[in-house]
Amino acid sequence: MAAHSDRYPLISDLRTRASRRLPSFAWAYLDSATGDERAMHRNEEALAEIELVPQMLKGPLAPDTSVTLFGQEFASPIGIAPVGMSGLIWPGPDLVLADLARRENIPHTLSTVATTDPETVGPRVGNNGWFQLYAPRDRAIRDDLLDRVEAAGFNVLVVTADVPAPSRRERQRKAQIRVPPRIGPSLVAQTIIRPAWTAALLRNGMPRFRTVEPYLDSHSLASVAGFVGATLGGTLSWEYLDELRQRWKSTLVIKGLIDLDDIERSLAAGVDGVIVSNHGGRQLEAAPASIRVLPGVVDRVAERVPVIFDSGVRSGADVARAISLGADFVMAGRPFYYGLGALGADGAGHAFSILHEGLVNVMQQTGCAQLSDLRNRRA
Ligand SMILES: Cc1cc2nc3c(=O)[nH]c(=O)nc-3n(C[C@H](O)[C@H](O)[C@H](O)COP(=O)(O)O)c2cc1C
Repeated sequence: MAAHSDRYPLISDLRTRASRRLPSFAWAYLDSATGDERAMHRNEEALAEIELVPQMLKGPLAPDTSVTLFGQEFASPIGIAPVGMSGLIWPGPDLVLADLARRENIPHTLSTVATTDPETVGPRVGNNGWFQLYAPRDRAIRDDLLDRVEAAGFNVLVVTADVPAPSRRERQRKAQIRVPPRIGPSLVAQTIIRPAWTAALLRNGMPRFRTVEPYLDSHSLASVAGFVGATLGGTLSWEYLDELRQRWKSTLVIKGLIDLDDIERSLAAGVDGVIVSNHGGRQLEAAPASIRVLPGVVDRVAERVPVIFDSGVRSGADVARAISLGADFVMAGRPFYYGLGALGADGAGHAFSILHEGLVNVMQQTGCAQLSDLRNRRA
């Protein structure tokens, strides 16, 4: 049988196959954005427009993709972005991604609302674990959660700023995604025709929001879903960020700021890094393409802290494009889950290799031995 790299050489190949293997509600949850989904498409289209000018006659090139970020060396400038309700998309993803991150020496960001807890993921991901925080309203819960995350070995806290309220996510509404899934004829019909997903679910059990379960009397998915809605949404403020900065002594990164004044203010609050992101187009349909705001952010930050980029990255060329515009590091969300959906556990690693090997090839094609050389290759 042909190798994955021949049968599915593009992230879009994984996406197509995943769309046929996931139940329709899981597919809608993973693939959708908000409104008419233009922000999501804009992310990809704006990246595709960025051109790189190759420089030739460099002799044999063995590009170095290693990068030092927050005092740690990673093998590649590509990390795994946080994805909530992860086990609903593909059962049992968090440990697969933790193993991948450790094996490839890249960071993996565990979402507050992932379906595996930090105590389980921490030892598996080793030194490569980042934890994404949706700010809990209750300070006692927040402090306990931060203690757990630190004890589990996570060394970077990523605070997500771009969910001031739930988003409308119309495609998800139409797919009738419910937490907990309502077990009825429609669910049975959707899963019965997706045997690989259903078999993985039977092996891994029903997804649960394990990280936040300890703060609830009842562990039923319904009560956890209510908790997530009531206590994690729209809670972040500048005062809260100050408290977090006091409380969390290691690396603190803010995710989802694209307004330059917000960025300036977050630097004044003492963040150690910013992630330029529009949440993959999932929150605000009118948001600018994430890549369009990157150069302005890079200028404003002026190397005071690292600038990390996400939203719309689908190839090694996209990684190179973001780096050419000044990003120090790049994250991807959907691509890893397209891989899992398409090929099961192997698929996440395959998605990584598409992005990473693609980046190496673009560096060769453009005559770049170092990632920093890409900054001079913009058309
Ligand atoms: C299904 C799904 C769930 C997500 N859940 C979270 C989350 O729990 N926390 C968070 O900060 N971002 C979340 N994101 C946003 C991603 O971290 C990331 O910003 C986005 O996926 C990047 O765009 P891309 O999918 O085009 O790579 C989610 C994205 C997707 C697709």
